[in-house]
Amino acid sequence: MTSPSATAAASAPPYFDVLFTRLQDEPEMRRAFGRHVHWGCWSDPRQADGSGADYAEAAEALCRRICDAAGIGPGQAILDVGCGFGGTIASLNERFGDLQLLGVNIDDRQLQRAAETIAPRAGNRIRFQQGDACDLQVPPAAFDVVLAVECIFHFPSRRAFFEGAARALRTGGLLALSDFVPREDALRFLQSFDTASDEATRRTWGHIDVTCPLSEYRELAEGVGLRLETEDDITTQTLPTYSFLRKHMRTWPDAAEAALFDKATAQLELASRAQLLGYKILTFVKE
Ligand SMILES: C[S@@+](CC[C@H](N)C(=O)[O-])C[C@H]1O[C@@H](n2cnc3c(N)ncnc32)[C@H](O)[C@@H]1O
Repeated sequence: MTSPSATAAASAPPYFDVLFTRLQDEPEMRRAFGRHVHWGCWSDPRQADGSGADYAEAAEALCRRICDAAGIGPGQAILDVGCGFGGTIASLNERFGDLQLLGVNIDDRQLQRAAETIAPRAGNRIRFQQGDACDLQVPPAAFDVVLAVECIFHFPSRRAFFEGAARALRTGGLLALSDFVPREDALRFLQSFDTASDEATRRTWGHIDVTCPLSEYRELAEGVGLRLETEDDITTQTLPTYSFLRKHMRTWPDAAEAALFDKATAQLELASRAQLLGYKILTFVKE
C-alpha cells in the first residue's frame, strides 16, 4: 500500500469532488459527512445502524476522542491541519471558550464551506488558511496543540509535516493525530499492494500511504524534538464505517464510479479486518 519512497504533489483528494456533489444531492450524505469527513468510532460497533445520523454521531465521537487525547481545554491555541470542512474546529468551538483556532487545508473549496458554516462563539477566534501541511506557514511556538485528524496518509511527506508541526508547537505542546498504522510484521505485505500505482486508489482516495508503522513514527518524532506519548488502537471501533460506505456507494447514480470506490475501499477494509492495518490515535509531546 504505497512504497515509503513514493511522493506526490499535494492536491485535494479526488473523493472530495464526489463528496461535494453528493452533499448537494443526498440529505443522508449531508448528515453523515457535512461536518466531519473521517471514519467513525463506535463505542459498541454492534449498535451501528447504518443511518447518516448514527454515522455523524460516531464521527463526532472520533473527533472528541482525538481532542481529548490532546487534553484540549479552554484558553488554548489550536492548529488543525488538513481540517476538511472544519468539523473538529466546530466541535471545539462548541465545547470550549477562549480558544484561538486555525484550520489549514490544501483545498480552498473545503475552507470556504467551513467558513460559511461555522460561527465563532463569543470569546473564540477562528481562522482558515489555504496551504500545504508539508509547508506550514504559521508562527513558530504559537500553538498548544496541533491536530491532524485522518489526513496524514495523504501528505506527500510525513517528515515535512512533523518538522512543521514541531516548529508550530510551544515546548510541552502536543501533536495529536489519527492514522492507519500497519503492524510491523505486516509492513512488507502491505507495501506489496503499492497503492501509489493502483488506479482505483489513485482515482478515488488519491495519494495515500499507509505504510508508516509505530517504530517509524517514533523515529520521525525523535528527529524533530517530539516524543511519542500515547497510542490508542481503535480499529475494531471503526469497522462499521466500511458497511456504511458500501451501502451508500450502491445508491450513487454513476455505477462505474461507485465500483471504483468500492474496489479501493475493499483493500483498506480487508487489511483492517485482518488486523494487518490498525486505526490509531497517537499523541506526541514537544520536548
Ligand atoms: C479524510 S479528510 C479529513 C478532514 C478533516 N480532518 C476531518 O476529520 O473531517 C483529509 C483532509 O486532508 C486534506 N489534505 C490532503 N492533503 C493535504 C495537504 N498536503 N495539506 C493540507 N491538507 C491536505 C484534504 O483536503 C482533506 O480535507
